[in-house]
Amino acid sequence: MQPYSGSPANLAVYLAFLKPGDTVLGMSLPMGGHLTHGWGVSATGTWFNGVQYGVRRDTGRVDLDEVRDLALAERPKLIFCGGTAVPREIDFAGFAEIAREVGAVLVADVAHIAGLIAGGAHPSPAPHVDVVSTTTHKTLRGPRGAMLLSRAEHARALDRAVFPGLQGGPHNQTTAAIGVALREAATPDFRTYAHDVVTNARTLGEELAVRGFDLVSGGTDNHLLLIDLTNKDVPGKTAAKALDRAGIVVNYNTVPYDPRKPFDPSGIRIGTPALTSRGIPASEMATVANWIDRVVGAARTGDESTVTAVRAEVKALMDGYPAPGLPVA
Ligand SMILES: Cc1ncc(COP(=O)(O)O)c(C=O)c1O
Repeated sequence: MQPYSGSPANLAVYLAFLKPGDTVLGMSLPMGGHLTHGWGVSATGTWFNGVQYGVRRDTGRVDLDEVRDLALAERPKLIFCGGTAVPREIDFAGFAEIAREVGAVLVADVAHIAGLIAGGAHPSPAPHVDVVSTTTHKTLRGPRGAMLLSRAEHARALDRAVFPGLQGGPHNQTTAAIGVALREAATPDFRTYAHDVVTNARTLGEELAVRGFDLVSGGTDNHLLLIDLTNKDVPGKTAAKALDRAGIVVNYNTVPYDPRKPFDPSGIRIGTPALTSRGIPASEMATVANWIDRVVGAARTGDESTVTAVRAEVKALMDGYPAPGLPVA
């Protein structure tokens, strides 16, 4: 529980298992992977030989045959599954078969979906992988921090990689807060939250698709939606900034095979954990989709009055669902 955050946790995995220059196979950043899975600009892609798989152009999903071919050709010592903008269930058993075939250590980076796994809304990697890496501040809804879980045989190497390999003193305040978060994650209420997050995401996806939004992979199995705005004729950054002004927080994001640059990409990524934590039900997702549709249209035409009008509607609805633990403004 001591890695300071998700990126240092992943770096500890490299330190435990690899030497500089060794090969790591991970999902490429623009396809939905994380920087620390061997992407070039990250230390992991600078000091190690990063080889990257993606998603199929026609399905928007990982193709395990492609992953197997790459693994057989490149013989990585480490394979990462999981990512940062992956709207679909991860086939841990399928990745495990490939890792076994090439003798690689398999890491499931479940930073995004840890809360869904804890709440029973996504299959667990535990029976299949050697190491699980996760942050504690996404769907798990805890403090900023991270955890590494592994089979007993790897525990010592990982412990030593975190301390003294990478870090100094423990952040005990974070460890205590992670303990609280994990206790919450073991409650029936949390199971309900995890399942509602997925229901809300699926419903929001359906409502957006009806309004002509192009969902990568056609929908979602988890908490996030990745949307290609090319057909809406609005860059992701322009849309995200307009949505932000309307009180709707998303982030601009690359989409698979994005012709635009990562700092000015074609897509946006939306998550439902915050809405769900406020208790907003699936029946309100049509309203949310309608706001997003109006604001994205307004971003294209520069119609700031629509953005302002939506902001007032967002505030009115949110006032009825105050954020847990925060005083009502
Ligand atoms: C899959 C995945 N792994 C690792 C990280 C890194 O976590 P952190 O931002 O805490 O370093 C992130 C998040 O940003 C992530 O999405």
